[in-house]
Order: sequence, then structure tokens, then C-alpha cells
Amino acid sequence: MESNKRYTITSALPYTNGRIHIGHLAGAYIPADIYARFKRLCNNDVAYICGSDEHGVAISIRAKKEKKTPREIINKYHELIKKSFLDFGISFDNYSRTSSKIHHETASEFFKNLDNKEIFEVKISDQLYDPRENQFLADRFVEGECPHCGFEHAYGDQCENCGSSLSPDQLINPISKISGAKPIKKETKHWYLPLGKYEDFLRKWFLNGKKGKVKANVYGQVKSWLDQGLESRAITRDLDWGIPVPHKDGKGKVLYVWFDAPIGYISSTKEWAKKENKNWELYWKDKDTKLIHFIGKDNIVFHCVIFPAILKSHGEYILPENVPANEFLNLEGDKFSTSKNWAIWLDEFLIDFPGMQDSLRYTLTVNAPETKDNDFTWKDFQARNNNELVAIFGNFINRVFVLTHKYYDGLVPNIDKLNEIDEQTLEKIYEFPNLISESLDDFKFRQACNILIDLSRLGNKYLADEEPWKLYKSGDLERVKQIMYVSLQACGMLAILSEPFLPNSSNKISEILNLKKPKWSEITFDKPILESMKKINKQSLIFRKIEDDEIEGQIKKLNS
Ligand code: 2FM
Ligand code: ZN
Repeated sequence: MESNKRYTITSALPYTNGRIHIGHLAGAYIPADIYARFKRLCNNDVAYICGSDEHGVAISIRAKKEKKTPREIINKYHELIKKSFLDFGISFDNYSRTSSKIHHETASEFFKNLDNKEIFEVKISDQLYDPRENQFLADRFVEGECPHCGFEHAYGDQCENCGSSLSPDQLINPISKISGAKPIKKETKHWYLPLGKYEDFLRKWFLNGKKGKVKANVYGQVKSWLDQGLESRAITRDLDWGIPVPHKDGKGKVLYVWFDAPIGYISSTKEWAKKENKNWELYWKDKDTKLIHFIGKDNIVFHCVIFPAILKSHGEYILPENVPANEFLNLEGDKFSTSKNWAIWLDEFLIDFPGMQDSLRYTLTVNAPETKDNDFTWKDFQARNNNELVAIFGNFINRVFVLTHKYYDGLVPNIDKLNEIDEQTLEKIYEFPNLISESLDDFKFRQACNILIDLSRLGNKYLADEEPWKLYKSGDLERVKQIMYVSLQACGMLAILSEPFLPNSSNKISEILNLKKPKWSEITFDKPILESMKKINKQSLIFRKIEDDEIEGQIKKLNS
């Protein structure tokens, strides 16, 4: 279990053009939160960084739809998104916004730094233009058929179906999303990042250096981009919403949102460091710091190719150690869709299932789209909650609490010795911190979470085999004490190890146990988790069963 290392952990900055749904949560936030909590619990120095992505055409389109200004839109959704993350226990050290002054300054400094080094190509070319609106059609302002996969609603900068990054002129039959007009072409000047020049660096750093270290899906995508050959990409746009291009010829132009957004990780770190009186540079420039980006698969090219190229050109900055991108989560067999309201919104989930954040966190973790796209179904959510959290985890803890109060008035019993089965069981219990750590270090969150449930399975089996209730009746009170002592240690271990996955439940169980949770690196076999004669409080409900009619109601709501 690695400790005393420095980690900069980031989750993709969400666009403030709508609320957050469970697909977002499963992709870039729950795994990152588990990882950040785990690294803190192992005594590492962690900066878990995120913030709202408030530029780009997605915001302008939303503003037009809601008949509001882009600023009104970002203010509204920034607050909603921030609250949802808080409600679900996403433990960011800082949640910033790219509309902040510090971010505008940081992103502008990056542009100027690269411009001064003459990294950019400056080109005048024909770009798609809406003749009705008198406006250039950048990114999501234009849609058309993807030249790679044939998807009909590919955006001007990216196809969300196959993940290809595009430029508007590659789209087949483009159409303006603002007016519906067929675009014409008009000359304009832009700054380009010549990605082709970074091919050698990217091959060496990523393809050679990361083989076997990053997930196969991430490696495969990067390799295929490099093998196709990298073209220069415009990093400026003719738009009125964004960070003004800091150049004498930059009038009416802004930085491309994908140029400024990843720099948002750095500005958010700066903001945090200022509040905490820390040195932000250690988190971005010290070669011993590990930088980990949690993202969805549609963001791989930006985090493994474009942002590293920008960081490399600036110099001094560290590059990501790993980019554990997830695949996509679907909902009841179909893609999440905001326009079709095919989604489970986090704020609505909490109205219907108050206090059940951990049940959702659990389902999204054991069913995470880690290696392939996966499906969330309400029935599976119910089954995971009822058959695993309630019937295995909750049941074990509850039985131990009830028996401890019944036999010992809530005190951890005193024991003189343990028998061989107890010793073996305790040994197994103490193996779990390492088992879970190994999986988490490998970014195998599903496996880690299943191992946690295995610990409660072990506890249930031990109780079922040893049957303390029978021995109590027959008067073998010394043996009952031993069994309850071992079972209570398992409960304590569950409280400690569940923290990254089920933070609310972990806290509730710890409160009942009066347990001050140790760091994972402090757990040693010769030290009991719960000392004899420690008083434990009366139990309260940790997990509740979900009834069939609740699930039927949700399925109806989704289809209505
Ligand atoms: O895809 C998205 O939702 C983007 N807003 C993610 C940005 S991640 C980062 F680089 F800022
Ligand atoms: Zn495509």
C-alpha cells in the first residue's frame, strides 16, 4: 500500500449546459472519488480537482434554447451541478469554474507562452459560415454526417458516436444548428496546434511508455489516432463566448473550449492552493507527483494527445501518469439522451430515494463500464441494493450489532484466547485492506467493490458456521464471546474499508461503533480494530430494501 506520495487527481470538467445524470457519475466521478478517497486513506497528499466547463458552443446553444444569456446559463447549472456532486459525496478538494478570473489568466498565459515560442501555425482558410445569422459555424453550431462512421448528428469538432475528432469541413451535408441554413464558406484566420510535430514524442511517451500500464481501450484509441496520422488542430474560434484570444489579431475570436478546459485543472489547483496556503506548482510540476485524469471515452484524445502536447510545449509540466477512461453507461438498453429525457437526473433520484446515495454509488461501481459499455437498469439497481447491500452487507452488520446489545449490553466482549478458526478468520479479515488496495491501484473498481462485499460474506459465513445464538442458549458463554469479538472486528474492518465506496454508510457504521477510523496504512494484525470493553451504540438502519412498486414507478416515469 503506497503512502506519502503526491497525487493530482482530476475528473472531467462537466459542461454547465444541463444537469448531471447517473451516466456522468459512473464515467468520471465515482471512480475518481473512490480513488481520491483511497489515496487519502493511505496517507498520500491528494489534490482532487474539478470544476465547471463554462465555455464552448454547448453553452451558447443552451442559452439560445432557454432564451437566456450564456452567463445566466452557466450560473444556473454551475450551482446545480456543484450541489449534485456534494450530495453524492464526491470529495473534490476544489470545484472551480472556467469563467473565473484565475482560469482566464492561466489559459491566456498558456496561449501566449506557446505563441511566443512560435509553436502555433497561423492559417487563413475557408470555414463554414451561416449566411442567415452572419456567423461562423464552429463545433456544435454545425452538425452533419460523420465521415468515419456515418452517424448523422456528428458535431463540427467531434462525433459522439465513434469518438473521432473532426473539423467542420469534414462533415458530410453540414447544416447550421442555429438557423437550419446550409452553410457557405468564408475566409478566416486561426491558430493551429501542429499535432503532427508531436508524433514522435507521443509514440515514445504514450505508446512505448504506457503499454500495459493504461487500460486497453485507452491504449487502443491513442494508437489508432497516431497510426492514422495527426493533423493540425485549430485552437481558436470565431465566437463571442469564451476566453478572448490574447493576440493583437484576436479580435472577435476566442480560445477553443478544448484548449482552455483541461487548463482548468491547473487553474482550479491554483485556486485551491491559494485557499489552503499550498504551493500549486508541486501538484503540476514536480516529477514525483502522479497526475491521473478520470474521463469518459469520448475525451481520450484530448487527455492523451492534445493536452499532453500543450503541456509538453509549455515545458516544466508533468504529464499524466494514467488516464483511466471508462466506456459509456446506457440506460435500460438505450443511450442517455437529454433531449429525449432518457436519463436519471441526480437531483430527481434523491427526491425519490432520499438518503440512498450509497446504493446508487454501489450499483454504478459494481456495474461500471470499465472495459465495455454497460447498461443500468432499475431492476438491477433494486437487486443489487436488496440482495447485496441489504441481504449481505447490512445483514451481517445488523446481526452483530443486535447480538452485541443482547448479550453484552453493547460492549465489545473481553476475551482470553481465540481458537484456530477464529485466528484464521481474523487473518483473512486483515488481508482485505491489501486486497482492495491492489485492485484500486489497478483501477479495477468493480473488483475492489466486490471484494468489499466478500468481506461481509466472510462474516456471514463465520456467524452461520459458529452459531453463537445456539451456544448462548446451551451456556457456552466463553465461546460466544470469542465469536462476537471476531465478528465485531469484521464490522470495524467493513466500516474502514467501505469509506471510498459507501462514504455515508461507512460513517454511520463508524458512529455506531464509536470508531475513529485509522488510515489504512496504520492497520496491523496485532492491533484490534475494536478494543475489548469498547461501547457500541444502538444500531440504526444502514441500508433499506427497495420495494417493487418503487421500481415500477421509476420505469413508468422513464417511459412517460
Ligand atoms: O466532454 C465534456 O463534458 C467536457 N466538458 C469535458 C472537459 S474535460 C477537461 F478537459 F476539462
Ligand atoms: Zn463517427
